[in-house]
Amino acid sequence: MEVLIFSDAQSLACKSADLVESQIKAFPDSVIGLATGSTPLGLYKELILRHQRNGLSFEKAKTFNLDEYVGIPASHPQSYRTFMDEHLFNKINIDQSNTQVPDGMSENPLKVGPAYEKMIEEAGGIDLQVLGVGTDGHIGFNEPTSSLGSITRVKTLTQQTIEDNSRFFNSDEFQPKLAITMGIKTILDARRILLLAHGENKADAVRDMIEGPLAAFCPASALQLHQRTTILIDKAAASKLALKGYYKFVGEMQDELLRKHRPSDWISR
Ligand code: GLP
Repeated sequence: MEVLIFSDAQSLACKSADLVESQIKAFPDSVIGLATGSTPLGLYKELILRHQRNGLSFEKAKTFNLDEYVGIPASHPQSYRTFMDEHLFNKINIDQSNTQVPDGMSENPLKVGPAYEKMIEEAGGIDLQVLGVGTDGHIGFNEPTSSLGSITRVKTLTQQTIEDNSRFFNSDEFQPKLAITMGIKTILDARRILLLAHGENKADAVRDMIEGPLAAFCPASALQLHQRTTILIDKAAASKLALKGYYKFVGEMQDELLRKHRPSDWISR
């Protein structure tokens, strides 16, 4: 794992946008996995700015979102489809038919997962997956104890996740307790992964993800198995890490190596 620690959320957003931009520029038809939540909002704002100001084009890109709630329509203000339309898709030149979010209103939600996996496979697999992390260490909606070999399927949300996300729903409104999520294996199959986290409330999950044992109890720790994952975090989210100084040192040594030898080959494919 490459661990990059930033002084503030804005520089973290810019760096993550640099990485996504490099991917799209190198391979305009890249397949990008996307996340919802407050964490990637800075990244999405940056990508929109770069599209508007510098003509960064998403015309040929394809996207697959990690997850969607079961039981609310795509048009619901809190659906992840609405989130993506509002915060990214409607503001860039992506072809809406190239954007996929699991169908949370399917008559049979149990059939959605296998079909979603097939679509990802037919698109050639995910080149770059963007992730956030839940306070309980979930990625997508893979809650603690999710199988590390799981694929896209229906998951029951934990009480902690339901509470974390209750801020988006009115108290008298139906709040989903089930979601369809890419599995941990689906995520690990991505050729490149960027996980973003900021804020003190993520410090425990970030510590368990990077320095804890590989365990289904912290699903994000599965990223320890992935060859090309970059963790971008701010100081608050990094505050409980034991080896902060080492990660900085690794970055310096890496920069020196790349200066001497060849440019970063982080782009996937
Ligand atoms: C939700 C999403 C996750 C996201 C998490 C964290 O549960 N399913 O993909 O990473 O929230 O959200 P936030 O970024 O708002 O803290």
